[in-house]
Amino acid sequence: MRTFPPYRSQVVAEIPVTTRAEREQALAAAGYNAFNLPANKVSIDLLTDSGTGAVSTAQEAAAAAADRSYAGSDSFYRFRDALRELTGYPHLLPVHQGRAAERVLFSSVLESGRISVSNTHFDTTRANVELLGAEAIDLPCAEFGDLDSLEPFKGNIDLDALERLLSGPDGARVGQVLLTITNNGGGGQPVSMANLAAAAKLARAHGVPVFLDAARFAENAWLVIQREAGYADKTPREVAREAFGLVDGCVASLKKDGIAPMGAFIGLTDPELAQRCETNLIATEGFRTYGGLAAHDLDRVAKGLQEVVDPHYLAARAGEAARLARQANEAGVDIVQPPGIHALYLNAGRLLPHLTASRFPGHSLACELYLAGGIRCVELGSLYLGTLDEQNELITPAPFELVRMALPRRVYTQGHYDYVAEILGDIAKNPEQVPGYRIVEAPKILRHFNLRMAPVH
Ligand code: F0G
Repeated sequence: MRTFPPYRSQVVAEIPVTTRAEREQALAAAGYNAFNLPANKVSIDLLTDSGTGAVSTAQEAAAAAADRSYAGSDSFYRFRDALRELTGYPHLLPVHQGRAAERVLFSSVLESGRISVSNTHFDTTRANVELLGAEAIDLPCAEFGDLDSLEPFKGNIDLDALERLLSGPDGARVGQVLLTITNNGGGGQPVSMANLAAAAKLARAHGVPVFLDAARFAENAWLVIQREAGYADKTPREVAREAFGLVDGCVASLKKDGIAPMGAFIGLTDPELAQRCETNLIATEGFRTYGGLAAHDLDRVAKGLQEVVDPHYLAARAGEAARLARQANEAGVDIVQPPGIHALYLNAGRLLPHLTASRFPGHSLACELYLAGGIRCVELGSLYLGTLDEQNELITPAPFELVRMALPRRVYTQGHYDYVAEILGDIAKNPEQVPGYRIVEAPKILRHFNLRMAPVH
């Protein structure tokens, strides 16, 4: 299909342009932690694709007409109907963002000593499991271990390992199976429908509920259409509906494929579980017809969910990611293959072999992208996933040293991504000049948000 992005800019926001000296100063003041940078010192912000998408005129028109009634607002019914059409779930609860959905659902299905098993838990998802005293176990498929392989579904869960866990001595402790589509913690790789169906069947055979973390359901559906036999003629909406139908429910941040600044939902088939979640929701998030969201957010989501399943939109977005992946490769920077949609994961460990894991090559590359080009992205390597001792020295490195470049929806044009590729090319010409970093200060939990670092020259 020949296509183009099915939207155009109608209102634009100015991008800050900074000098290298200003960026050096800003990054030092931020303790070399991109999360501490003021956004007005960032030119191309690839920190996240969450809540950063550009809204459409249709979304803004709907938001302007939102109904702010506390109970039973029209905005809620539009939100609910859009989700019901998409998922088929009878029970739909709004929450303010994905992690709130996790907290509300998990506290109804897990408790201390239980196990949550996933292809890969996202970091807040893992935190919400662990805060309940439960254990989060990741079972990514073996294919993910080879970053260069072109296997189409490296986001899959390892079915053999899942079977062993469920029928082994810890099987009785498993409280839920959670499949993250696409697998954000696992290189943004998709999960196949065959894998979803097989995992759901296994879970059911052991009486364990199975849920989706469906933050990127439309992008997963698009990759299924492109890569899985038997799906080429289906629409993204049909594939998504089938995926939701395979499981007992979902949590989903709508800041990604809802193309909304804020929002999330819980979808369930079991009325009794839905009732328990609703009680928790009302006590902690808000009444069941707004769940912590403003009415305009409900309406932006209702429209965004229609726009996100447009095949032209998904084709253009996937094309954008694939093109940037090619450009990165041509510039001499390897990425996790094959490229997904919401982000590219740069193989910093390979680009910067002069830096050992304890000098955090992923963090070094992320800092360099900022210093050289005002580009902000985030490390996914030993700084994020490794274990540290009391003196903050790295004891166990992460398996890979990656940098995630997330691609906000409908925000940047090819011109911006050409610039990103040029900056990557500049860095790749003299990678040995990129310094390593050491930790100056690290909090014990969720450390990457609050770390302070220093370059080691
Ligand atoms: N699940 C997945 C797979 C996610 O990627 C995220 C957020 C969440 C849950 C939590 O949702 O932010 O609405 O509370 N991911 C963002 C990211 C923050 O940058 O990948 P939330």
